[in-house]
Amino acid sequence: MEVHILTICYLIASVTFILGLKMLSNPATARRGNLVAAVGMTLAILGTIFLYKDDAGNRLHNYGWIFGGLLIGAVIGTLAAKKVKMTAMPEMVSLFNGMGGACAALISIVEFNHLTHGYNAAEYPQEGFQFFSGIDKTQLLIILLGLIIGSISFAGSMIAWGKLNGKIKDFSFKGQHMLNNILILVIFGLAAYILVASPEETILYFYVIVALALFYGVLFVMPIGGADMPVVISLLNSFTGVAAACGGFLYDNKVMLTGGILVGAAGTLLTILMCKAMNRSLMNVLIGSFGGSTATGAAQQQAGGSYKEITLSDAAMVMSYANKVMIVPGYGLAVAQAQHVCHELEKVLESKGVEVKYAIHPVAGRMPGHMNVLLAEADVSYEKLLEMEQANDEFKSTDVVLILGANDVVNPAAKNDPASPIYGMPILEVEEAKTVIVNKRSMKPGYAGIENQLFFQPKTSMLFGDAKKALQDLLAEIKNV
Ligand code: TAP
Repeated sequence: MEVHILTICYLIASVTFILGLKMLSNPATARRGNLVAAVGMTLAILGTIFLYKDDAGNRLHNYGWIFGGLLIGAVIGTLAAKKVKMTAMPEMVSLFNGMGGACAALISIVEFNHLTHGYNAAEYPQEGFQFFSGIDKTQLLIILLGLIIGSISFAGSMIAWGKLNGKIKDFSFKGQHMLNNILILVIFGLAAYILVASPEETILYFYVIVALALFYGVLFVMPIGGADMPVVISLLNSFTGVAAACGGFLYDNKVMLTGGILVGAAGTLLTILMCKAMNRSLMNVLIGSFGGSTATGAAQQQAGGSYKEITLSDAAMVMSYANKVMIVPGYGLAVAQAQHVCHELEKVLESKGVEVKYAIHPVAGRMPGHMNVLLAEADVSYEKLLEMEQANDEFKSTDVVLILGANDVVNPAAKNDPASPIYGMPILEVEEAKTVIVNKRSMKPGYAGIENQLFFQPKTSMLFGDAKKALQDLLAEIKNV
C-alpha cells in the first residue's frame, strides 16, 4: 500500500515538474510555476524518505544524516538565493548546476562501490576477471555514464562560475581542441574497456575516468569567451539533467528519471534558442572564444568619430513632446538597479499622453529573460514588453528611443560589418527611429568588447551617467516640462 502511495507521490511530482516548466515560459505565471514544481519536489523527497522500501522490505534509516544534510542545504540555498544580485544570477545558476553534476557523479561512485563490494585485490589477486565479469553490466554502464557526464558538468560549471565572477580568465593554447578530443576518446575508450574486458584493474581505471572527466570539464570551458558563458551553463545544465536521469535508471526511480530528462531537454532547447538569438552555431560558441580577449573585427579597430551629448533638459523636452517613446533596457540598467525609476518615468510620460513601450532583445543582459524578470520586478506591464521582431517593426513609427545601459544588442556592426565578432546576430534596429538617446557612463564598449558605431550617428545623442541617477534627474526634468 505504502509503495503505491509512493508511486502516486512520484506521479504527482512528475506532473508538477511539467506544469511548473510550462508556467515558467510566461512571466505572468513564472513565479507560481517555480512554486508548483518546488512543492512537487518536496513531495517526492518526503515520500522517498518515509515510504521507500527496498526489495527486502528495508526502509531508509540514518534520518539524522538525511535531515542534517537537508537542513544545511536548505539554509545555504535560501540565503544564497535571497542575497544574490540579479546581475550575479548566472553565477549562482552555474554554481548550483555544478552541485547537481557533483551529486550525480557521487551517486555513481557510491553505487560503483556497492557493485564491487566484496572484491579485495590483495586477498584475491587472481580473481579480478571472474569478479568483474560477474557484475551487472547494464548497471555499470549507467554508473559510468552518470559518472562521466556528472563530473564534466561539475568541473565545467565551477570554471564557468569562476569566469562569470571574474576570478578565472579565459585560457587556451595551441592544440587545445585536439587535446580535448583525444581526452574524451580516452575517457569513453576506458569506460568501454572496463565494460567489455572486465580487467583486474577495473577499480583503478574507474578512478582514472573520474580524474580525466574532471580535467576534461576544466579544459572544455577554459577557452570559451566570457560573453558565451550563459550558453555554456545552459549546455552544462542539460548534461546535469542527463546525469540525474542516469541516477533515475539506476534506482528505478521514475521521478528522478522524469526530472532529469526534463532538465536535459529544457537545457538543450535553451542552448539552441540562445545560439539562434546570437545567430551562431553551438560549435562556434564552443570553439569561438567570443567575448574573450581575442574579440577582433573592423568595428573594434575603428575607434570613434565624434559623438554629441544631450543635456537633461533637452532630453526631457524631446521625450515629453514625443508621440511614442521606446525604452531599450540592457545590462547597465540591471547593474544600476534602475528598473523602478524606469517604470516611474514610463508613468510620468504616459500622463503627458506619450505612448511608452519596451524593446526586449533575447540576449539583453547576462541571462535569458534577464530584462523581463527585472522589469516584472518593477511592475512594468507585460503588454508593454515587445519582443525583438515586434519592436523592429515599430521603430520606424517611434519618435525617441531611450537606450538604458544596452550596447551590443543595438550595435549595427551585427548587420553591416562582416569582420565583427557579432556579425549576423539579430539586433534591435533602433536607428530606424527619429531620435536615439543613449544612457551609459562612458564610451567604453559592452560585453563583446567592441566599438558601437550607433553612438557616432547624427541622430544619436549620449546622456552620460549611472542609469539610476540619470533617470532620476531626467524624471525630475520631465515633471517640470
Ligand atoms: P552590454 O553590451 O554588455 O552593454 C552594457 C552597457 O551598459 C555597457 O556598455 C556599459 O557602458 C553600460 N553600463 C554599465 N553599467 C552601467 C550603469 N550603472 N549605468 C548605465 N550604463 C551602464 O549589454 P547588452 O546590450 O545588454 O548586451 C548583452 C551582452 O551579453 C551581449 O553581448 C550578449 O551576447 C551577451 N550575452 C547575453 C546573454 C543572455 S542570455 N542575456 C547570453 C550570452 C551572452 P559603460 O561602462 O560606459 O557605462
